[in-house]
Amino acid sequence: MGDPAAVARRWRAFADHEAPVRSPHYAALATGVAADPDLLAFLAALPPLKRQPNLLLGVLTLLHDRPPADDAELRAWVLDDVDRVRTEVLARATQTNEPARCAALLPALAGLPGPLALIEVGASAGLCLYPDRYAYDYRPGGRLGESELVIGCEVTGAPPLPARLPEVAVRVGIDLNPLDPVADAAWLRALVWPGPGHDERVARLSAAAAVAGREPARMVTGDLLEVLPDAVASLPAGVTPVVFHTAVLTYLPAASRSAFVELVRSLPVHWVSQEGPEVFTELAVPPHPATDERFLLAVDGTPVAWTAPHGGSLDWLG
Ligand SMILES: C[S@@+](CC[C@H](N)C(=O)[O-])C[C@H]1O[C@@H](n2cnc3c(N)ncnc32)[C@H](O)[C@@H]1O
Repeated sequence: MGDPAAVARRWRAFADHEAPVRSPHYAALATGVAADPDLLAFLAALPPLKRQPNLLLGVLTLLHDRPPADDAELRAWVLDDVDRVRTEVLARATQTNEPARCAALLPALAGLPGPLALIEVGASAGLCLYPDRYAYDYRPGGRLGESELVIGCEVTGAPPLPARLPEVAVRVGIDLNPLDPVADAAWLRALVWPGPGHDERVARLSAAAAVAGREPARMVTGDLLEVLPDAVASLPAGVTPVVFHTAVLTYLPAASRSAFVELVRSLPVHWVSQEGPEVFTELAVPPHPATDERFLLAVDGTPVAWTAPHGGSLDWLG
């Protein structure tokens, strides 16, 4: 049994810092949970990793096909249905998959000699494994590619936007629990927070799932530290191996993050990372003037840009 006061602090931090801009509705709900002793007792009885706000909120959204309208409804949905909610929370993990992150990856990938063999660690449903199959609308910079999914991206600085999409010969996704873009579509949708951009993000998931369905990636189940070397060794000759990850290292304990960085540096691969800057104690992280959350894009350990966590902006350095 965890400490309900600690759970309340976690939910209040989510309400005050993580959610207000991206989802005022989730911020309001989380404020209510943080002040509700019955809900805090329910959460404190769960394993630590299962107490996070976006997991319970995602599960409630999945079970009811919409988020709770207010705190009273949230309270009823949990406390009147405890067994079902607990079962779903224990069975699931937050595995948000956001193909819009490809707009920031693209200039980094296109700078490498093709054909590329992409290995994404922490791939979820693998929707970021198709940077060459999406189209892009860089502002400024113009349009690139033809696809049912066009990813918009505001640009500052001078990223090396390619004239052509890179050639990708191999796609491998590694995840503790690979999701299927179609069979798990309802869970992927439930993980999208209500708020600005929600409908656009949900539409993007369907379009990306259609792209993935046409050429399924090879998905490998396992811990990235354990299965990455074999995945790299299994690649055919004549391709440029690229290991990449976005929004993954934050889920690893600090020691595993360092072990991963050491591992990826020891392999014959290029390494593209797009993560919150706090996970990179090894990199010299440049300052960013924005007050909202940013990811750092790095190529082979060298920071090249700041990006929006769910895609949509790219601030090239230098
Ligand atoms: C937030 S999702 C990001 C998915 C995708 N990279 C994206 O940007 O849309 C994080 C993913 O990392 C996976 N993950 C977390 N720890 C992992 C580990 N040790 N080994 C493999 N996958 C892991 C989770 O299962 C989850 O699917």
